[in-house]
Amino acid sequence: TMIKTVSRTSHKTRDTTPMFSRNDVSIWSILKKCIGMELSKIAMPVILNEPLSFLQRLTEYMEHTYLIHQANTTTDSMERMKCVAAFAVSAVASQWERTGKPFNPLLGETYELIREDLGFRWMSEQVSHHPPVSAFHAEGLQEDFLFHGSIYPKLKFWGKSVEAEPKGIISLELPKYNEAYTWTNPTCCVHNIIVGQLWIEQYGNVEVINHKTGERCSLIFKPCGLFGKELHKVEGYILDKSKKKLCAIYGKWTECLYTVDADTFDAHKKSDKKNSEEKKSNIVDEEPEEMPLPDGDTVQVIPGSELIWRIVPRPDNSAEFYAFSTFAMQLNELEEGMKGVLPPTDCRLRPDIRHMEKGDMDSASAEKKRVEEKQRLSRKNRSKSSEEWKTRWFHQGTNPHNKAQDWLYSNSYWDRNYSLLPDIY
Ligand SMILES: *[C@@H]1O[C@H](CO)[C@@H](O)[C@H](O)[C@H]1NC(C)=O
Ligand SMILES: *[C@@H]1O[C@H](CO)[C@@H](O)[C@H](O)[C@H]1NC(C)=O
Ligand SMILES: *[C@@H]1O[C@H](CO)[C@@H](O)[C@H](O)[C@H]1NC(C)=O
Repeated sequence: TMIKTVSRTSHKTRDTTPMFSRNDVSIWSILKKCIGMELSKIAMPVILNEPLSFLQRLTEYMEHTYLIHQANTTTDSMERMKCVAAFAVSAVASQWERTGKPFNPLLGETYELIREDLGFRWMSEQVSHHPPVSAFHAEGLQEDFLFHGSIYPKLKFWGKSVEAEPKGIISLELPKYNEAYTWTNPTCCVHNIIVGQLWIEQYGNVEVINHKTGERCSLIFKPCGLFGKELHKVEGYILDKSKKKLCAIYGKWTECLYTVDADTFDAHKKSDKKNSEEKKSNIVDEEPEEMPLPDGDTVQVIPGSELIWRIVPRPDNSAEFYAFSTFAMQLNELEEGMKGVLPPTDCRLRPDIRHMEKGDMDSASAEKKRVEEKQRLSRKNRSKSSEEWKTRWFHQGTNPHNKAQDWLYSNSYWDRNYSLLPDIY
């Protein structure tokens, strides 16, 4: 059965005004007070932002949805894991060069996206303000998958860099195989916040678990290391339930991923390591300041490898538009037919983001202050009465697959009953 959707056919890109220069404000004067603090409680100037809400930024996980469709049509569970692992990596690829900060969603803010061409529909809600938690739920239009999760981005300022740890669980279900996969995203770090060229690194372990078969894909997003040798690299193995290596996966999260036989990969690594040890001498161990230039800008392909994912190139004007991908440029699109259909809480209707998109920074800044103040006031009002905030489309519960605390979808968003929605803008 097909899920019925409100039809959207064209995907025009909106007229976004080019971004302002970061040199226009003294960022240091704002940030020096916050070293070591969590940034979610600090009102940041709009100039550091990109004209998208964090809820929209999360939607960029879906750019490479074809990998999930591919997982559904593959009958071998190891092949499915390859697709799911590639999807998990591709989901963070849009972070590359994205140094603008998305707007913090207001409590009760929502975002939906229907992409018939990519075969999914998505909705999300900001379910908590302190700490900020965003919950999302997506489904394949042919009912071949469910993809959901709740993300609590913990931002830490370290003087020269901001580190974003994306706490929260991501789950993918393939009903045809009665399978569920879960994972957590890597940590993202923006370097040179105050001076120098901004650059982005993602690091940490990502373990994709197939809860039905016990297979897992254990990936390492490598920190860039000295001289940038490891910049953007991702590698790891698919393991069966007894931890036997089934195959290796390697590549760069900014570029592409390959799989190869595990023995071939290990032999290749061993010879690579021997070569680099011979070259090593007098190396001083310190944190890199400039963005290290990698020794070659492409992945060295091991003979016998199979390509599982390659990034879509960014559009030519991407650098002037916050390093958006084509997918990201379409997220604010507000077509005529959508106006009466979207809930009044949708990000597309948020006035500060709209003003920023049009390049009117003064209005963007004023509106940002106004909606944040309105949120503060209604919180204060609630604390005086016995009234409590009620999330509209999600409820707190236990993730059935890994038993962790999660936010679960209440299944009614697409009925479009907006009678209990708050006035947040
Ligand atoms: C999912 O996979 C099954 C089995 O291969 C296939 O019958 C079905 O059409 C697939 N669904 C989609 C949307 O591709
Ligand atoms: C807070 O309560 C006052 C008094 O009841 C009301 O006038 C105001 O609109 C409320 N503000 C918000 C943001 O809910
Ligand atoms: C919409 O939701 C409200 C509150 O739950 C309910 O009272 C109302 O009957 C619903 N409207 C429709 C058309 O289902």
